[in-house]
This record gives sequence, structure tokens and C-alpha cells, in this order.
Amino acid sequence: MSSVYVFDHPLIQHKLTFIRDKNTGTKEFRELVDEVATLMAYEITRDMPLEEIEINTPVATCKSNVIAGKKVGLVPILRAGLGMVDGVLKVIPTAKVGHVGLYRDPETLQPVEYYVKLPTDIADRELIVIDPMLATGGSAVAAIEALKKRGAKHMKLMCLIAAPEGVKVVQDEHPDVDIFVAKVDEYLNDHGYIIPGLGDAGDRLYGTK
Ligand code: PRP
Ligand code: URA
Repeated sequence: MSSVYVFDHPLIQHKLTFIRDKNTGTKEFRELVDEVATLMAYEITRDMPLEEIEINTPVATCKSNVIAGKKVGLVPILRAGLGMVDGVLKVIPTAKVGHVGLYRDPETLQPVEYYVKLPTDIADRELIVIDPMLATGGSAVAAIEALKKRGAKHMKLMCLIAAPEGVKVVQDEHPDVDIFVAKVDEYLNDHGYIIPGLGDAGDRLYGTK
């Protein structure tokens, strides 16, 4: 069974409040999502292994730590996942970025895949699958399946807000994938929206609808 980590850092929780607020406009929404993504990336990389190397400072030689281990790959689920990519790249600038395009059919709520483009070496990378919303879990499960089918082995899932229903579905289908969220909300409504949530993440990021 995978673990669920909730980032309770005050800065993340504060910004999330204004992301949720319906009076927050597109520009500010986008900026806040970007900022929270940076803070979440800082937390999600806590377990990265380090190794010591020797360097020369201007006045002495010393041993100092650098990140070791697997390289990182970011995989936003289009389109709303895109809103978090630049924020993560601020702290992991060398990460490669793959894209999985999925939309949720409004009637069936089932994910429909329309685009997959990934770095060639995903099998060797520590992947972070990114989507602000984990609702029914259908999109996340489908994206992770699409990645595994193409050779991916190590993955984390990073979301802003999750519904308990979506968390359970991902844990049941992909027990090897840990989930990192800013908040697990109360429930899904009959239209598959997270309550209280933030509405439609893609529409709020890009000003559609
Ligand atoms: C939203 C969101 C997730 C999905 C979550 O995308 O960004 O990808 O819904 O719902 P689920 O957990 O029930 O699958 P949407 O389908 O609205 O597409 P968009 O990002 O292109 O707007
Ligand atoms: N997708 C969203 O953008 N918002 C929700 O609440 C559920 C799915």
C-alpha cells in the first residue's frame, strides 16, 4: 500500500486558501499555483540521496554534498498539470519533462488519452506525475498506466487537492506510487467535482469557460 503525504507547511496552506477562493482571478490563480508547486517540490525531494564530493573553496579544500541517485522527470497531466511544471522546475531545473494528455469525459467521467510524449530514458528516472486535482482518480491511474506501459518504474504523484475517493483508487491500482498533496478534501459531488475543492483547475488556470 502506498503512502499519502499531506504538506501542512503554513505557506502551502495559506496559498491554497486563495487558490480555492472563487474571487481569485486567472492571473493570481496561476501565480499561486506556480508558487505552491515550488514549495511542494521542495518537500517532495526531501528523500533525495546525497553524496559527498571534494571541492575547492577560495580558501580551502572541503567535502560537500551534492544530489546523487536517479535523475528526475516531470510528467504533467494536460492540461491543468502544466500549471505546476514551471514552479517545480525552479528547484529542479535540470528535470526533463514528458507530457500525458488526458481529459475527463464529462458524461462518463472516464479519462480519454489524446497525447503522450516522454523522455526516452524514463525507465531510469524518478518521475513526478503532476496534476492539481485527484478527483475520481481515473486520470491519475490512466496516466500512471501509460507511463508504466512505456517502461517507467519509479513514480510519485503530486497533486494540490485530492478527494478521498481518488486517493483510494490510486492506492488500490498502483500501490507502488506514493501520493503527495496539499490537502485531502471532503468528498466528490455527483458531477465528480471535489468538495470544497477549487472548481475546474484547467478553466481557472487558463481562463476558459
Ligand atoms: C481535471 C484535472 C485532472 C482530472 C481529475 O482535468 O486536471 O486531470 O480532471 O479528475 P479525475 O481524478 O476524476 O480523473 P480535466 O479532465 O478537466 O482536463 P483539463 O485539465 O484538460 O481541463
Ligand atoms: N477536475 C477539476 O478540475 N476539478 C475537480 O474538482 C474535479 C476534477
